Amino acid sequence: MKKLDFIQQKAREQFNRQSQNYGKGHVLEKLDDLLDALKHVAVRRGQLALDIATGSGHTGLHLASLGMQVTASDISPMMLEMTRKMAEARGLAVETKLHSAEELPYRDCSFHLVTCRVAAHHFSSPETFVREVVRVLRHGGAFILIDGTVEDDQPEAEEWTHRVEKLRDPSHNRLLTPCRWSALCKQSGLKVKYWSLAQLKQPDLEWYFETAATPKKNRVLVRKLIEHAPESARRLFQIKEENGKIVWWWQRIQLVAFKAAS
Ligand SMILES: C[S@@+](CC[C@H](N)C(=O)[O-])C[C@H]1O[C@@H](n2cnc3c(N)ncnc32)[C@H](O)[C@@H]1O
Repeated sequence: MKKLDFIQQKAREQFNRQSQNYGKGHVLEKLDDLLDALKHVAVRRGQLALDIATGSGHTGLHLASLGMQVTASDISPMMLEMTRKMAEARGLAVETKLHSAEELPYRDCSFHLVTCRVAAHHFSSPETFVREVVRVLRHGGAFILIDGTVEDDQPEAEEWTHRVEKLRDPSHNRLLTPCRWSALCKQSGLKVKYWSLAQLKQPDLEWYFETAATPKKNRVLVRKLIEHAPESARRLFQIKEENGKIVWWWQRIQLVAFKAAS
């Protein structure tokens, strides 16, 4: 693996430190978004799947439970350790591989399915990532991308959420809009078959800080940003107080694209 760039290095440090928070009980365990995207893909037992930035393996392990042969990869060794533990607890087999999303150590046309869920906003180069996904996909293979997003044409709300996310977790890079993801797929030769926006509740600001070990001074700044959030962000993310907790609704993109059959 090439030397990690600054953003990749930050992501590795952050997730090595926080790996214990992403296992059982984390909101990512709920797979509604993945199940929805999988309705658009014909998955068969024995097919080869690559789950990029697998975290503690929620996505990769679901694919393994469907009978796929899964390679679960991540930039963080500690996260891969979590994946192995979760696989063992569920009696599932996955191969784990340490590498970045921007440099995939596989031959061209290796996988029937490539997935990447709630991670791409950390990547230093989404362009290189998508290009690599296309390279390792078989002809006719599918790419499922799920990530936080901000709907198109909402620059003020997008900038607000970017500042909040960056303070909360400095390894955050940038959320991309649906239009940008579709353009990246098309530029790299993928055909986007389906995309939709889903909403996911941020259930408690304090929990949100804890999962990322947000430094105290950044928590103060985030609270200020929430207090002075522009109307566009308040409306879009439905920021409010519920039983003494600050909650809001993230937007998430679910996108399914295919590599042309040869
Ligand atoms: C929120 S977790 C992923 C959740 C997981 N995909 C799931 O479905 O539960 C984000 C993961 O992205 C990984 N990551 C961040 N930047 C990366 C990069 N450039 N290449 C590969 N993995 C990366 C982190 O190490 C972390 O494990």
